[in-house]
Amino acid sequence: MAVRRLAADEIQPKSFTLSADAEAWAQEQIAKYPEGRQASAVVPLLWKVQGDCGGWLPQKAIEAVAERLGMPYIRVLEVATFYTMFNLEPVGRHFIQCCGTTPCALRGANDLMDMLRGRVGEQRHVTADGNFSWLEVECLGACTNAPMVQINNDYYEDLTPEILSRIMDELAAGGTPKRGPQQGRNASEPLGESVTLVEPSLYDGSMIGAWRKRFEETAPAAEANAKAEGERATQQAATNPKPAKPDAGRVVERPVGDTPAVRAAAGEKPVSTGKQAAAAEPSRTTVAEGKPASETVAPPRSRKSYVNTPVKPEDGRTVADAPASPDSASVQTSGTEKTSGS
Ligand code: FES
Repeated sequence: MAVRRLAADEIQPKSFTLSADAEAWAQEQIAKYPEGRQASAVVPLLWKVQGDCGGWLPQKAIEAVAERLGMPYIRVLEVATFYTMFNLEPVGRHFIQCCGTTPCALRGANDLMDMLRGRVGEQRHVTADGNFSWLEVECLGACTNAPMVQINNDYYEDLTPEILSRIMDELAAGGTPKRGPQQGRNASEPLGESVTLVEPSLYDGSMIGAWRKRFEETAPAAEANAKAEGERATQQAATNPKPAKPDAGRVVERPVGDTPAVRAAAGEKPVSTGKQAAAAEPSRTTVAEGKPASETVAPPRSRKSYVNTPVKPEDGRTVADAPASPDSASVQTSGTEKTSGS
């Protein structure tokens, strides 16, 4: 979308006054809103004024609307420059907005624009007779009848360059060409003959209750099939049972370990209370004896040493009594020496 700015100074009118008609319109719109909320009528009033100005909004007209509604000029200017329904520079008597969005582009919108370029000129250019100007716009919501254009307030759809050119001829001659689809269909009906929902039975009432009837006819057979299938499955399970899989979420029997129940089942007698007490006698408890110190082997130690980080005395912390460049395990500090693996 192009940057939306006010038209050049040289084409701006020097003054603007709301017509009596526009004033009556303004009062009607303002009356729709609560007292003091007249600013809500800004869009309808700008729209009305645009119509009165030949299809565009001069700066003086925007100022007049701001004054009429008691709004700061900048707020009305924001509205006028935001909405693309407001034109900020002069347009032709028949202002053509040609949709160039994907569905229309796929259906030939570029051919329409080529034709407009050849007949009218570049976008925003107004023809010498003041009849036409055109602009490429985004989707206008008639994609099913693409490609299409909007001329002033009317849509013209299913266009080809030839059809659009004919419509423009009629408009230039003061005529009123047919609006909407141009290739014989009504609204967005299929082009040509309908190919779906064409069976007469859909419309003669013969389908009423057909589904239920069909269901009632087929239900006994379906029920018999299900019953036979169930019986077959039961029979197969009885003759050829499948082992349960541990992960099938069912209880699976497995041999258990050394438990009193297993030992009892194997004929082993339980340990008597007297034997249990004798086994618990401390004097019979096995105690691991330590080795003499001479046989003790020190665990391996890394030769890499870690010393306390030296700090500044003014920090109020203990300063490690270590050289600036500690060198391996030979470094001794007043702090604790830490050795990897210790
Ligand atoms: S894409 Fe053209 S009307 Fe939607």
